[in-house]
Amino acid sequence: MAVLLALCAAVCCSALQTVGAKLYSNRYEGDQVLRIIPSSHVEIQLLKQLFQNITVDFWQPSSTSFIHMGSSVDVHVGRNSTGRLKAHLQQTHIHYKVLIPNLQKEMEKQAGNRSSRKRRSEFQYDYEVYHPLEEIQSWMFEMNRTHPHLVDMFSIGWSYEGRPLYVLKLGNRKRLHKKAMWIDCGVHAREWIGPAFCQWFVREAVNSYLRDSSMRRLMNQLNIYIMPVFNVDGYHYSWKTDRFWRKTRSKNAKYHCRGVDANRNWKVKWCDEGASLHPCDDTYCGPFPESEPEVKAVARFLRKHRKHVKAYISIHAYAQMLLYPYSYKYATIPNFDCVETAAQNAVSALYSAYGVRYRYGPASTTLYVSSGSSIDWAYKNGIPYAFAFELRDTGYYGFLLPEALIGPTCMETMRAVRAIASGLLKKCTS
Ligand SMILES: *[C@@H]1O[C@H](CO)[C@@H](O)[C@H](O)[C@H]1NC(C)=O
Ligand SMILES: *[C@@H]1O[C@H](CO)[C@@H](O)[C@H](O)[C@H]1NC(C)=O
Ligand SMILES: *[C@@H]1O[C@H](CO)[C@@H](O)[C@H](O)[C@H]1NC(C)=O
Ligand SMILES: *[C@@H]1O[C@H](CO)[C@@H](O)[C@H](O)[C@H]1NC(C)=O
Ligand SMILES: [Zn+2]
Repeated sequence: MAVLLALCAAVCCSALQTVGAKLYSNRYEGDQVLRIIPSSHVEIQLLKQLFQNITVDFWQPSSTSFIHMGSSVDVHVGRNSTGRLKAHLQQTHIHYKVLIPNLQKEMEKQAGNRSSRKRRSEFQYDYEVYHPLEEIQSWMFEMNRTHPHLVDMFSIGWSYEGRPLYVLKLGNRKRLHKKAMWIDCGVHAREWIGPAFCQWFVREAVNSYLRDSSMRRLMNQLNIYIMPVFNVDGYHYSWKTDRFWRKTRSKNAKYHCRGVDANRNWKVKWCDEGASLHPCDDTYCGPFPESEPEVKAVARFLRKHRKHVKAYISIHAYAQMLLYPYSYKYATIPNFDCVETAAQNAVSALYSAYGVRYRYGPASTTLYVSSGSSIDWAYKNGIPYAFAFELRDTGYYGFLLPEALIGPTCMETMRAVRAIASGLLKKCTS
């Protein structure tokens, strides 16, 4: 533990808490996050044209192709464009409001809260702060070392930049041929609440093994594979350089833009509706399916274990939704009744914690149509329960979910994931 803490201290200081220097070199000073609420098809068309002239970073939905009636559009606008964008919106009478008036200030406020917070205990890993990649990896080694009967850590491959892709296998190691569940977090780099949840899940699982009989049953009867940071390169980059980076970090042969959307790169209706062929877009599907080593490694692992893996869960943010296939088309999956019931149970378990409401349903109708997604791929490869969570919130903080909300968010999500896992132990036929 002492080694781990020393490492944390060193990394924290070099990452975000450097005294005196500005976070991310002050690059978000004056940037704003706007919520735009188009109220007609004409306004949607106008917006799409507008976004051809003014470059913005789409927070939700993730590109112009997903803008549709009845939904709002959250965009991060650079300081030099806020005036122009607002003027255009006013001119065309499109309704909007400012969600975050100064992104740099908001980040500094949160960082200030972080450094002023008292450390809970000298010898405890703090699960209610965001951790950089190095700390998460040290924590994984530590869990592996201190819980050998319940945790096994291994690597399933290497990222584009050569980082190991670590997975933790949780479960009572004595039993063989168990059903399994897969959970990945941090597919999209800027969704920091994801890796925080994966760590929370592991902590809860190993800590409650002895005192909580239902958790013990889960761990005895299931193997749970957890990948706390899927997109390790992107996550690292979101700490070091660009807080709002989404994609992987692979280089493109023709364009200077880097990265592929790791949730559009799967070999299922690859690069069709809801994915972009352009390398500079945030929903770029990549040059070919599984072009990203991270996607390829996970796909290979799941293919190899598909006889046992009964549930695939991918943790994203933000929107407060629980989504299941299909993403790429408007159609009902064959085992809809079982999956719908599981989703309903999960969402009401989540609600029972703090009264937070989640919408749930097929990804295509609940969020938007997107091709090449991991849940569709998992489902098509024989995993009957495939879910994507979009955790808190609904846009007030967006990707900058304050650390004070890590605890409640993880606690309620834990209930939902446990509900799904318990359901796997029962038979459902539809
Ligand atoms: C976009 O820019 C072009 C050329 O500058 C201009 O003709 C057009 O009106 C602009 N469109 C919008 C929606 O601002
Ligand atoms: C914004 O404008 C300033 C001054 O006009 C310029 O120095 C700066 O490079 C611009 N920043 C961006 C991100 O375009
Ligand atoms: C920071 O801490 C203050 C006081 O505890 C709290 O009111 C505020 O909401 C916190 N802000 C964020 C962004 O966490
Ligand atoms: C995890 O611990 C086991 C021993 O329990 C060890 O064999 C294995 O190499 C460890 N994993 C890693 C990645 O160090
Ligand atoms: Zn995501």
